[in-house]
Amino acid sequence: MIIALTNSKGGVGKSTLAVHLTVWWQDQGTRVALVDADAQGSSSGWLHESSPQTPMFRLHTPDDILERVPELQGQFQHLVIDGPAGLSEVTRAILLVTDLALLPCGPSVLDLRAANEAIRVVKQAQKIRQGPPQAVLVPNKLQVQYRLSRELLETAKSLDIPFTSGLRLRQAFADAAGQGKVVWNLGPRGEVAANEIKELWYGLLGQESSIDERSVANG
Ligand SMILES: Nc1ncnc2c1ncn2[C@@H]1O[C@H](COP(=O)(O)OP(=O)(O)OP(=O)(O)O)[C@@H](O)[C@H]1O
Ligand SMILES: [Mg+2]
Repeated sequence: MIIALTNSKGGVGKSTLAVHLTVWWQDQGTRVALVDADAQGSSSGWLHESSPQTPMFRLHTPDDILERVPELQGQFQHLVIDGPAGLSEVTRAILLVTDLALLPCGPSVLDLRAANEAIRVVKQAQKIRQGPPQAVLVPNKLQVQYRLSRELLETAKSLDIPFTSGLRLRQAFADAAGQGKVVWNLGPRGEVAANEIKELWYGLLGQESSIDERSVANG
């Protein structure tokens, strides 16, 4: 399966989710590789620190994406593609090869507008490919006590795309990036974030949850 993280806006959590999904699959013993399609190289650098044994590839042009990803697909069970910010030709090429596009989205009206632009480009790809990719909006950095975040969740419902319950704004996610780790390797202070993001993967990818219900309730 190929899963890509794309959106029109920067800083919404594409690399954070890409690294955590790659390491999660790696920890489960599946043959997974990361494709870092962002010239900034943030996810490949982070993955190299947190899980140096996991294969990664840096592909930065539409030609590379369209040619190399189908080749890599034969070598791995799962590919995770970390896309660049924006709806460039690279993003459009990613949408022509991926099975599932996850669109992380921040909790503001501007983020939502940007997501709408990205959804438009997803729909173009779906038309060309007569079906795929599936696409799911992932609200990120949610602060449920603020009105805007409730508004985001309500507006997300009105967009013509499924969405997940999302991730809260949590210091552990920022700390994990700084330390080159994933949140479940941060010890107790990463536990709530770890349960939250693992629950996201279990929910999305349809595997049985092994989350400790009490930790989720306490979060
Ligand atoms: N749920 C979260 N809670 C707190 N901080 C977060 C969360 N998700 C991401 N961040 C932080 O937000 C910043 C941007 O995240 P990230 O680099 O994953 O976004 P991106 O979409 O890949 O950005 P870019 O478009 O620049 O590639 C990082 O500092 C990251 O640690
Ligand atoms: Mg990134």
